[in-house]
Amino acid sequence: MTTKRAPFIVVEGLDRSGKTTQTSLLQARLEKENVPNRLLKFPDRTTTIGKMIDSYLKSTSELDDHVIHLLFSANRWELASTIENLLNEGVTVIADRYAFSGIAFSASKVEASDATVPKLPFEWCRAPDIGLPAPDAVLFLDIAPEQARLRGGYGDERYEKEEMQARVRQAFKRIGEEAEEGTLWVVVDAGSERDVVAEEMWGSVEALVQRGLTAPVGRLWKDRVL
Ligand SMILES: Nc1ncnc2c1ncn2[C@@H]1O[C@H](COP(=O)(O)OP(=O)(O)OP(=O)(O)O)[C@@H](O)[C@H]1O
Ligand SMILES: [Mg+2]
Repeated sequence: MTTKRAPFIVVEGLDRSGKTTQTSLLQARLEKENVPNRLLKFPDRTTTIGKMIDSYLKSTSELDDHVIHLLFSANRWELASTIENLLNEGVTVIADRYAFSGIAFSASKVEASDATVPKLPFEWCRAPDIGLPAPDAVLFLDIAPEQARLRGGYGDERYEKEEMQARVRQAFKRIGEEAEEGTLWVVVDAGSERDVVAEEMWGSVEALVQRGLTAPVGRLWKDRVL
């Protein structure tokens, strides 16, 4: 008999696109279906690294752009073995943001003197996440920044500015286009009603969740390790 493992499902999207709303609705659905599950949220602000990220996002501390990028990645690596173990134990893992946000946000930072010049090259941003547990499905909640803004407006955190969000959306698009085989990348219209979005998301992952997988947990961009 082949042993199966559970799927790793990542929910990504711009700020205010509904990730937290939808990850908890997805978790409620899994509970209803009696599927063992764990919901993770990145950054995990409870660890020592997570606390540094938290104070940076709230603008109470300044950090070099390279440093904060590496801290975000390190914060995911802190959870890497936990994710893999849970999946192998049959626990479906849902993540509210993951490496794709890390790359999209850092690669969208531009020089103050010239908004066409990125501060950090895209490939440099991707490198520290190479080898992290790969999700089996990424549900990308797509919304126009203008529509996201109407949802109570952006908060006070550092990246919540409309021009930045527009660049981040482009970066996510590129990441989705370059997604590897084995990762299901689903673009979900996040502008619809909550329940409509939730149904679409469930429809995309139901088979994965119910059937499980025989393939071992993948590694992000493993073919890029030379
Ligand atoms: N489908 C929807 N239609 C209208 N409003 C929504 C919808 N989904 C979520 N909202 C509302 O939009 C706001 C942002 O939702 P939520 O916190 O889930 O987004 P998020 O992507 O987690 O945001 P952040 O990036 O800030 O963590 C909340 O006020 C939420 O109630
Ligand atoms: Mg959220």
